Amino acid sequence: MGQETIQVGLGDRSYPITIGTGVLAQIGASLQTAKIAKRFAIISDDRVSALYGEQVQRSLQQAGLNSELIVFAHGEASKHLLTIGTLASELAERGFDRGDGLLALGGGVVGDITGFLASIYMRGIPFVQVPTSLLAQVDSSVGGKTGVDIPQGKNLIGTFYQPKAVFIDTSVLTTLPAEEFLSGMAEVIKYGASIDADFFNWLGANREAILALEPAVVAPMIRRCCELKAWVVEQDEREGGLRRILNFGHTIGHAVEAASGYQLIHGLSVAIGMRAVAELAVRCGYADQQVAVRLVELLRQYRLPTEIPAGMDRDALRRYLQADKKTIGGRVFFVLPEAIGKVRITDQVDDADIDAILAGTYSDSLS
Ligand code: GLY
Repeated sequence: MGQETIQVGLGDRSYPITIGTGVLAQIGASLQTAKIAKRFAIISDDRVSALYGEQVQRSLQQAGLNSELIVFAHGEASKHLLTIGTLASELAERGFDRGDGLLALGGGVVGDITGFLASIYMRGIPFVQVPTSLLAQVDSSVGGKTGVDIPQGKNLIGTFYQPKAVFIDTSVLTTLPAEEFLSGMAEVIKYGASIDADFFNWLGANREAILALEPAVVAPMIRRCCELKAWVVEQDEREGGLRRILNFGHTIGHAVEAASGYQLIHGLSVAIGMRAVAELAVRCGYADQQVAVRLVELLRQYRLPTEIPAGMDRDALRRYLQADKKTIGGRVFFVLPEAIGKVRITDQVDDADIDAILAGTYSDSLS
């Protein structure tokens, strides 16, 4: 299998995304050619480092680059300011300075933490993303959002800080737990549902091959997501407008994720959130019911949840919605579908409609 490179065009902060099989083995040579840093701290979690840490370190070594592996505990609980402090101390102890760089080896948590650390350590050092989960490969590793969670909500502290390069090896998906693959598929479906109707239909037509991880479909799928993400980020890097469409399903999704105590992982919460806003769009008269029907059908084809869990504390959900960082002046902004592949961003939603959706009152034909 070959490799392909696409470019995120952001002027002097532009960077390449390399996608394909065998990418991990070539990272060292690529970093050497790009002259990003003289030494790298490979930041990873315990699970991913056990699988791929040695391979990446060897690739750097073969290219004549020094590296050190620094590992923290896997899971969303690590996405905390304390982890940033611990890692920064570790870098300082090992003598990392502004001529050095970071390499994020892992899923979304590793990428968000490493990017945030890179953006503030010594007022900013270069970093590269090596995403190993589907979610990170199609979304979080591209576009420069970094951050950590606080008890009031996810990603409430963070920066916009672009990586110098992204390396996506599709073969690592074979070791990804099934639930995490599906979590990534929710973000993949997000692109189709909010921006690209043809891609949405393609996902429906290629479901079996995608779930079987056939490289001939998985690589183009990831590539399409990265192209769409690059297209959005190039026009609105700091989320002043267009980039908010990438939050389709995330406003309610983040609230569901937080209200579950982070037991429901990100993509599964986003799947529930996408269905909820589709229902909201139908209730508000912005979308025809078929939009919600088609979205629910595709989510279910990918075995994704589409209901807010029955026992979930609705008051907690409302509180988390209000704390969402896209809230402006106390109004919650929603990204609502008008059609498959087309959304509108609005705060013109009645509280009664939001309450009905949070209570799980959906249109009849979809229950
Ligand atoms: N994941 C949404 C964004 O990067 O803007």
